[in-house]
Amino acid sequence: MFSKQFSTFIFLSLFSVFVSGAPSASSQPISTLPITRRLNLSGARTLIEHDVARAQTMRTMGSPKQQSAFAAAFDASGSVLDEGTLYIATIGIGSPPTDYSVILDSGSSNTWVGAEQTYVQTSTSQTTGQQVAVDYGSGSFSGNEYLDTVTIAPGLTIQRQSIGVATQSEGLNGLDGIMGIGPTDLTSGTLSNGQLIPTVTDNAFNQGLISAQQVGILFEPINSLSDANGEVSFGQPDVSKFSGELTSVPITTTSPASDYVGIDQSITYGSSRTNILSTTAGIVDTGTTLLLLSSDAFSTYTQLTGATTDQTTGLLTLPASQFGNLESMFFNIGGVEFEFTPDAQIWPRSLNSQIGGSDDNIYIMVGDNGSPSGSGLDFTNGLAWLERFYFVYDSGNNQAGFANTPFTNSTSNSGN
Ligand SMILES: *[C@@H]1O[C@H](CO)[C@@H](O)[C@H](O)[C@H]1NC(C)=O
Ligand SMILES: *[C@@H]1O[C@H](CO)[C@@H](O)[C@H](O)[C@H]1NC(C)=O
Repeated sequence: MFSKQFSTFIFLSLFSVFVSGAPSASSQPISTLPITRRLNLSGARTLIEHDVARAQTMRTMGSPKQQSAFAAAFDASGSVLDEGTLYIATIGIGSPPTDYSVILDSGSSNTWVGAEQTYVQTSTSQTTGQQVAVDYGSGSFSGNEYLDTVTIAPGLTIQRQSIGVATQSEGLNGLDGIMGIGPTDLTSGTLSNGQLIPTVTDNAFNQGLISAQQVGILFEPINSLSDANGEVSFGQPDVSKFSGELTSVPITTTSPASDYVGIDQSITYGSSRTNILSTTAGIVDTGTTLLLLSSDAFSTYTQLTGATTDQTTGLLTLPASQFGNLESMFFNIGGVEFEFTPDAQIWPRSLNSQIGGSDDNIYIMVGDNGSPSGSGLDFTNGLAWLERFYFVYDSGNNQAGFANTPFTNSTSNSGN
């Protein structure tokens, strides 16, 4: 059922749940859920392959109205790849709830379980008679759709949430499923009756559990396998997790990025602000590990940094002695410049051995998305990027927001 390509598994310890304590702009208590980073790698090559397969699928299947994922679900089965590094959360389903470990995914919108642990039916479980299927490029699932009670955090128990229960799945690598927090329209074509599926955010809002259709996400960089590292808040951003102002921008109108949490941005490099990517559309995606750039932008970045492709990992690399020559990348989003430091651009050096790398090198988390600029999805700001900036997806207002965090200038990856 699952592909067996990963040899190492590292489970990073859970950290304590924070609830209701954070200072907040709204009077409503904030519901937050801890998220934990998990690595399950046989090497970085699978990490790149996973990300590129996902980007390619998103480009071709981007417009949900154009193609039924239900029909297409298994077309990409040849390219199924396990997730390399991802962020997981624990949610409860049923009454009494059974806990499931799910990937937090802003690039898809179905919530489902059953890949590993069997779905436990309780009195709140209702069959719908519908079948469901989703293809992620890097994996897929199909099964039956149920309605059930979903508990995300204390105070955030959603009634009659539509969830998928897998009878078949690939690429989940020991996890139970996915909590999709992307745009509702991405569920188009996934149900056999053709209807859209309200996301957990939609239902929490409609049931009065949260005051806005907003999800705020903080990921923290790690340099040790035991570091705690993330939080997702529902209903409002957690202002205790970012610094300065939140910059909000509309979701891009350029397809297919517009079908996801798509934004317009430009990227420059170094103190000279040399252009890497002129203003264009791409996506922010918690289901992608690297920062992916269109092929031409990637080529410019490679030339500017002098990095070369490492044969073992497939990642760009530089001798550790040249780390000091690496300069910041600057992301211009909504007229605000976000600095992505040299430290942010590299894989944590203390974990080089986990990807088959050498201690004498640094490995760069910027990859080629396999398509020239102008594709309508010219970058993916994946986890490497999101570990430096607070991210808010405001589906109610069709906006995304970004802010600096205490980790924006962290030097933990280079070990300084
Ligand atoms: C890690 O990957 C291996 C190989 O794909 C898989 O068998 C295993 O279940 C994974 N570990 C966990 C606990 O997810
Ligand atoms: C990061 O460091 C730069 C350069 O030292 C500084 O200008 C910037 O304000 C810092 N950013 C944050 C969010 O601390």
